[in-house]
Amino acid sequence: MKLVGVSGALAGEKTSLTVNDVLVNAKLLDSTIQTELIDLRDYEIDFFDGAPLAVYNEDTWNVVKKILSADFLIFGTPIYQASISGALKNLLDHLPEYAFKNKVTGMVATGWSNKHFLVLEYHLRSILSYFKGLVPTGNVFVHNDSFNEDSDKIIDDRVSERLQKLAEEIIYLQRGITNR
Ligand SMILES: Cc1cc2nc3c(=O)[nH]c(=O)nc-3n(C[C@H](O)[C@H](O)[C@H](O)COP(=O)(O)O)c2cc1C
Repeated sequence: MKLVGVSGALAGEKTSLTVNDVLVNAKLLDSTIQTELIDLRDYEIDFFDGAPLAVYNEDTWNVVKKILSADFLIFGTPIYQASISGALKNLLDHLPEYAFKNKVTGMVATGWSNKHFLVLEYHLRSILSYFKGLVPTGNVFVHNDSFNEDSDKIIDDRVSERLQKLAEEIIYLQRGITNR
């Protein structure tokens, strides 16, 4: 099974580290799982303007292909203006309607206000469900205070534990779908 992580931040490190944490935990739980991190800082994704996919640049095409070929996925977003990042939404706008059929799609977010922990539930979950993704009951919001200021490493053990539990849940659910 291939697990692809998508980090929807173009600015800092925290979202990418959080998504990667889930990938690392998944690999520790099951070494046969292949993992890949798509960090949007590494790609130039064209702005979606209604044209078909073939018209966009190679990065856009490659990233969409990687996402569609994943067995299951974990999406990470920084909270921007009480919602998901525009970069992540733009990438999702490139996908076909049934992109996540029979795929588990987990969610993590980073932000500076705990008041926005429900953004994942109210903004990202509905989009992933629209694409027919199975969204786990667990998701993880990581407050900026949970990161070491210098290294951006996660220093809150409860957060690390929740990320591990999320990795467990997405593997469990995806196995259920794959072996049904
Ligand atoms: C333009 C902008 C808007 C933001 N809006 C919010 C917000 O509404 N709620 C929140 O909790 N954090 C907000 N943040 C904080 C970021 O979500 C937070 O710093 C996040 O950890 C950044 O992730 P990154 O290091 O992956 O870029 C905002 C940051 C920026 C730059």
